[in-house]
Amino acid sequence: MKLTLRIWRQASTDSEGAFADYELDEVTPEFSLLEALDKLNDDLVARGRDPIVFDSDCREGICGSCGIAVDGVPHGPKPNTPSCRQHLRSFQDGQTVVLEPFRARSYPVVRDLAVDRSGLDRIITAGGFVSVDAGTAADADAHQFAHQRAEWALDMAACIGCGACVAACPNASVSLFTGAKLLHLATVPTTGQERARRAADMVEASEKEFGPCSVYGECVAVCPAGIPLTAIAGVNRERLRSVRRGRNRDD
Ligand code: FES
Repeated sequence: MKLTLRIWRQASTDSEGAFADYELDEVTPEFSLLEALDKLNDDLVARGRDPIVFDSDCREGICGSCGIAVDGVPHGPKPNTPSCRQHLRSFQDGQTVVLEPFRARSYPVVRDLAVDRSGLDRIITAGGFVSVDAGTAADADAHQFAHQRAEWALDMAACIGCGACVAACPNASVSLFTGAKLLHLATVPTTGQERARRAADMVEASEKEFGPCSVYGECVAVCPAGIPLTAIAGVNRERLRSVRRGRNRDD
């Protein structure tokens, strides 16, 4: 199949960017989007031109490193699927496909399709580690709590931290990400120490660099981990809890 890739090229954060068209042939529907970019880069390098910069690592939908907006949709046309798991079978032969970096005020372009998502790391850093001495790890069976609660925590832990939720949100809100990162630890008794302090600090860090949540729900439509909108309700609940009980209460 043949495709025209219309790709955002930008040399650095401070330089002007623009779209450039590249013809891609001899690809098949089985190619992943990133494999198509690899092929294009091989051709560009062979002709002595600058390759297209984009982020990736595992290419298995696990690490959250990849992040390209395809025809305006963070990650691409297949819902709830990261960029590395998008395939050319989603496109028609001869189609023009527009590839851009994730667009959000809090994601400055580093180069071409790569953006700086370190604002997400700063939220995790604000939550920090738990400073109380928790002793040695107890036998898992010794902590009895409802299976549903454990499942909920594992569902939240599925967040891969790609930040597509921010790029999809008209407000560039990070609430879905913050909710997942807060709740996967806060809601089980074995990891709930300093729960109020973590909630207060992580919400504050979220609000510093990212927009407010207006519950548009665009974030859940693109989230590769299927984090539900209830994670955002969890952010508000944890924040309220920390205000009412005080940030230093652990119970
Ligand atoms: S490269 Fe790891 S999730 Fe896409």
